[in-house]
Amino acid sequence: MKVTMLGSISSVVLLFVLLFSATDNSKVKADVDPLLPTCKTVGGGSMYAGIDFCMAALGSDKRSRGAESYRSLSIIAVDLLTANVTSTATKIDGLLQKGGDATTIKCLQPCQALYREIVKRRPGCAAAVKNGSFKEAQAELQKSAAAAKECDSGFRNGHVTSPVAVEDDNAFKLAKLADGLLDHAT
Ligand SMILES: *[C@@H]1O[C@H](CO)[C@@H](O)[C@H](O)[C@H]1NC(C)=O
Ligand SMILES: *[C@@H]1O[C@H](CO)[C@@H](O)[C@H](O)[C@H]1NC(C)=O
Repeated sequence: MKVTMLGSISSVVLLFVLLFSATDNSKVKADVDPLLPTCKTVGGGSMYAGIDFCMAALGSDKRSRGAESYRSLSIIAVDLLTANVTSTATKIDGLLQKGGDATTIKCLQPCQALYREIVKRRPGCAAAVKNGSFKEAQAELQKSAAAAKECDSGFRNGHVTSPVAVEDDNAFKLAKLADGLLDHAT
């Protein structure tokens, strides 16, 4: 009698466990972004990009939906960086043409050269990712991140508000994200 009761109690418990884990699983599947594990791996340990930035940036490109490998996601990050720095270079050209506050102009001039350099390095970097020369691509990405930082530092040192602060931050983070993805690429 005792044994059967224990048996039926444990069956009920087991049934509940099964029911709840089943609902939990389907909930997790529906709610979790497929980019989350990758972004946790790459952005979680990185003080640069961060998980939210990784998810938003990669998620903004519809190619990332079908992309699972670190390599294909790094190609997307490199492309996003290219789009970003190309438009930033154009913005800087426009700002310099327009003229304005002397200190701002003085800080912006080196940024023009820095961004032109970053833009020039983009095709080589993308080619290096595609042909598997990850170390070469990463070296380029690190240079790009450093250049964006350098542009921003010029304004900080000059104590003027940068008109490209957001752009510097995006370029820095995208370069770090692509670099981080390539750490795991095969
Ligand atoms: C630059 O990158 C950021 C972050 O991914 C994005 O929100 C922004 O739209 C991009 N801008 C351009 C011009 O590509
Ligand atoms: C890959 O492409 C990069 C950039 O164009 C080039 O410098 C490198 O030599 C290439 N490597 C191989 C193995 O093809």
